[in-house]
Amino acid sequence: MAKRIYVTRSLPQPVIDRLTDANFDVEVYPEDQVIPRSVLLDKAGGRDGILCILTDFIDREVLERADQAKIIANYAVGFNNIDLEEATRRRIAITNTPGVLTDATADLAWSLLMATARRIVESDNYLRAGKFEGWGPLHFLGQDITGTTLGVIGLGRIGQAFARRGAAFGMNILYYSNRRNTEFEESYPHTAEHVSLEELLQKSDYVSIHVPMTPDTIHMIGERELRMMQPHAILINTARGPIVDEEALVQALKNQWIWGAGLDVYEEEPKVHPELIPLPNAVLCPHIGSATTSTRTRMGLMAADNIIAYFEGRRPPNLLNPEVWEQGS
Ligand code: GLV
Ligand code: GLV
Repeated sequence: MAKRIYVTRSLPQPVIDRLTDANFDVEVYPEDQVIPRSVLLDKAGGRDGILCILTDFIDREVLERADQAKIIANYAVGFNNIDLEEATRRRIAITNTPGVLTDATADLAWSLLMATARRIVESDNYLRAGKFEGWGPLHFLGQDITGTTLGVIGLGRIGQAFARRGAAFGMNILYYSNRRNTEFEESYPHTAEHVSLEELLQKSDYVSIHVPMTPDTIHMIGERELRMMQPHAILINTARGPIVDEEALVQALKNQWIWGAGLDVYEEEPKVHPELIPLPNAVLCPHIGSATTSTRTRMGLMAADNIIAYFEGRRPPNLLNPEVWEQGS
């Protein structure tokens, strides 16, 4: 009998086709909105596999209902939405989509950096409001980018891709990560130095966050850290909202402890701190880091391929809990 797969959100058609072509019995949640919790709980039962998105909370309750599931493929690189420990206990394989969204996310972090530094959104709004009455020597003065210092928190795939783009702007890099990466340092055409978080915050003109969300990284950037940054510095967050204390960030932006922030993620998505909304020195995107047509298709194909591999008896290429495979095979 065909294996039954539930997909919690409409995805690019080639993704659904790949699963159907592999003879799965596929059902897709039909609305273009976050699947209601009650529907997720209801649909999780009796499925051999689930393809879910990062806004689905795959917690103990969902895993309990997913009594038949062998694999849950997350359509995201981040997997803080899944109780990995509980899934492992229940011997459900969990996979993610690393690599395919690295460049798109690094590009978006740069878009936010440049838009914030050069006040692109604010000046666009000004023009559209009919306020542009001629060039002004003091209009919309922003921050230099070329030749400045780029602080990169987390030097994984996305952090490295983001940092490498700094070479084109002649930027020196300060990075904070668990390990020093001499290969990166040697291949980067300007200076790249492994420093403490404090030194990075104190010396960088731009600080961009590229760590996963874990119990250790929640509120890694709070009032103390924001106060260490320079008054002309800009904070970029394309990782996960809770890594930054959003209330402290509002204070930092309102009181000019820092100059600006470019954000793609929020502490309580889709809610955004109401005091961020009127601030002209914040550029706010609605979690679009991986949102390009080809990236979103590649993420979906990768999730589908993990499901296909599992049921063909091959280890899913992006398995996050290898214990499940070792015990199960
Ligand atoms: C997006 O935020 C992802 O984790 O893929
Ligand atoms: C600006 O438009 C300039 O020409 O300096």
